[in-house]
Amino acid sequence: IDPALTELLNSRIRDVQDYPKPGVLFKDIAPLLADAEAFGALTRALAERAKELGATKVVGLEARGFVLAAPAAVAAGLGFVPIRKKGKLPGDVFSRSYDLEYGSATLEVQCDAFAPGEKVLVVDDVLATGGTIAASLDLVQEAGAELVGVVVLMELGFLTGRERLVPHLHGAPLETL
Ligand code: PRP
Repeated sequence: IDPALTELLNSRIRDVQDYPKPGVLFKDIAPLLADAEAFGALTRALAERAKELGATKVVGLEARGFVLAAPAAVAAGLGFVPIRKKGKLPGDVFSRSYDLEYGSATLEVQCDAFAPGEKVLVVDDVLATGGTIAASLDLVQEAGAELVGVVVLMELGFLTGRERLVPHLHGAPLETL
């Protein structure tokens, strides 16, 4: 990972105290997305990794993952596949539920999202507890694609999401920009 890129991206992520509730420090990527240089550099870095890893599709996780993954897919000359929250995708879907602090969430992917032999790079903005990405990696596998890597913009290391993801990665790399 390029230290100059990391510095640029870090400088465009805004910490918001006590959002969305007291005691939580929210990482706001709006300043990064609004900055053409930073968003462009991020998009090129994601596209480069997609090509280096031999991906044939870039998968984005709703909602902020879409904003990062879709332009990267186009820049890499690849198609984009969304993993969405429950009830948003038409037709047959695979579903995975995972636990939240209170209750649970369900993610879905269309059963025909991937052709046989397709290689997938998964992109999201934040790795926190790892629940979102773990469920998404299981969906990619269930849909018959091969995971070639996961790239996130930020990783909240203190939440140990990386450890939780190990059994879901099947040896694919997990990278943080
Ligand atoms: C946030 C973030 C990641 C996820 C990380 O998404 O964008 O997808 O949480 O958390 P985890 O590692 O603990 O699962 P959120 O569900 O808030 O959705 P949004 O992108 O639609 O705002």
